[in-house]
Amino acid sequence: MSNDKKKNKSGVEDLPLMQKIVALCKRRGFIFQSSEIYGGLRSAYDYGPLGVELKRNIMNEWWRQTVHEREDIVGIDASIIMSPRVWEASGHVAGFNDPLVDCKLCKSRFRADKAPQVGIDAEVEYRKQGKTIVGVAERGYVCPECGSVELSEERQFNLMFKTDLGPVKSDDSTVYLRPETAQAMFVNFLNVQQTYRLKLPFGIAQQGKSFRNEITVEHFIFRSCEFEQMEMEYFCEPEESDTWLDYWKDQRYQWYIGLGVRPENLRLRPHDSDELAHYAKACYDVEYKYPWGWDELEGIANRTDYDLRNHQRASGKKLTYFNPQKVNPETGKPGMHYLPHVIEPAAGATRSVLMFLVDAYDEEPPSEGRKDGRVVLRLHPRIAPIKAAVLPLVKKDEWLTGKARDIVKRFWKNSVNAFYDEKDAIGRRYARQDEAGTPFCITVDGQTKEDDTVTLRYRDDMRQERIKVDEAVAIVEAKTRE
Ligand code: GAP
Repeated sequence: MSNDKKKNKSGVEDLPLMQKIVALCKRRGFIFQSSEIYGGLRSAYDYGPLGVELKRNIMNEWWRQTVHEREDIVGIDASIIMSPRVWEASGHVAGFNDPLVDCKLCKSRFRADKAPQVGIDAEVEYRKQGKTIVGVAERGYVCPECGSVELSEERQFNLMFKTDLGPVKSDDSTVYLRPETAQAMFVNFLNVQQTYRLKLPFGIAQQGKSFRNEITVEHFIFRSCEFEQMEMEYFCEPEESDTWLDYWKDQRYQWYIGLGVRPENLRLRPHDSDELAHYAKACYDVEYKYPWGWDELEGIANRTDYDLRNHQRASGKKLTYFNPQKVNPETGKPGMHYLPHVIEPAAGATRSVLMFLVDAYDEEPPSEGRKDGRVVLRLHPRIAPIKAAVLPLVKKDEWLTGKARDIVKRFWKNSVNAFYDEKDAIGRRYARQDEAGTPFCITVDGQTKEDDTVTLRYRDDMRQERIKVDEAVAIVEAKTRE
């Protein structure tokens, strides 16, 4: 078969970056289209062998730093289906809507707030029945597909997925798939505070799936209908909330930097007052420079006592915190019941997977001593799906394969995800691991029999060093925990 696709200097087909990433994800088993053999399902994705490791590693890093390594934050894992009253009280039933518009010309359906903005009453040209015509954009935007101004009225479309609990469908059976993990932390606020005797400030963290019937699904896994979140509600003294917002926005920014994200691709952006969510007094977005431009990665919001107050009102259950030391201004005496304020860092786990892949993606042209270019994922060793690939130089030599497998088992014993590979020439095996983001390869060869040394190859600069097996194992283990 002739290969006439245009390739760049690195030997990679010349395509926009997102297309290269989607292709790499499929080729190496990071992410597949869901139900692919049936033609796929809009906006649904499956994580393959490398993708599931990457996603878990990201989520574990978040959990380690947010929950395990702090005295003031604990975790929960709540039910995805909650009482519908939760979503009434939180404002989601009435207000979690996007403005939906249909184009009368090309029949596409889109979100008004995501459509190209041209200015109220701007005159725009678009094509209709083979002719160019001029129309007036009365609402200030045009159809994202065909540019026309022949649009339906805006309709409010609720983003929550509805289903029924129990065998009989009725008004009482309606339940929702949660659109965010956050509400379970609010409704469990006192359960957790009292069982753990927590004192302000303290946080409750949760990770898991959330569901939104998004009108516009876009950019691969960036915006999908089923996705995973990593959220934390940090309950604090009302008068200290500005300070904690400042603290958490910096912590969250640094978390990404600590996992190797290039600082020039990451920024913190304060929300203007007109873009704040209905529950937020102030908010910062951690934004990433994706291939299509700066866009949201995570939001850090000051939610005040909005949620606790609404749940207290709707449930009729007191959700106040008792502080025996705080002087009650009404009585002048110590001892006060009040609602704490909340700072919420809300990150997307699946969106982070995309961001880390984009940020780590690199291509290198051929260089001295290397005739082929390469694609390399420069993932931080902590989140790399495979930490070390152990490769016997010759697969027919049983001593070499046995030794390589022994080294792999040593890693497994210490919870380091190592991978054994004997297929193909060594150069191709290295290339596969570069694309998988594996930071280290250990090659076992004839000399290993004589002096128990191996070649340790570093992914990023392809440096190779000949060292003792013990030393190679120790380096890999130290580097993947750094
Ligand atoms: N509890 C607050 C909350 O959910 P959000 O800004 O709607 O806030 C937080 O969501 C994060 O969840 C986003 O910054 C994004 O990373 C992720 N996220 C939200 N909707 C998403 C979707 N449809 N697909 C993928 N990730 C999404």
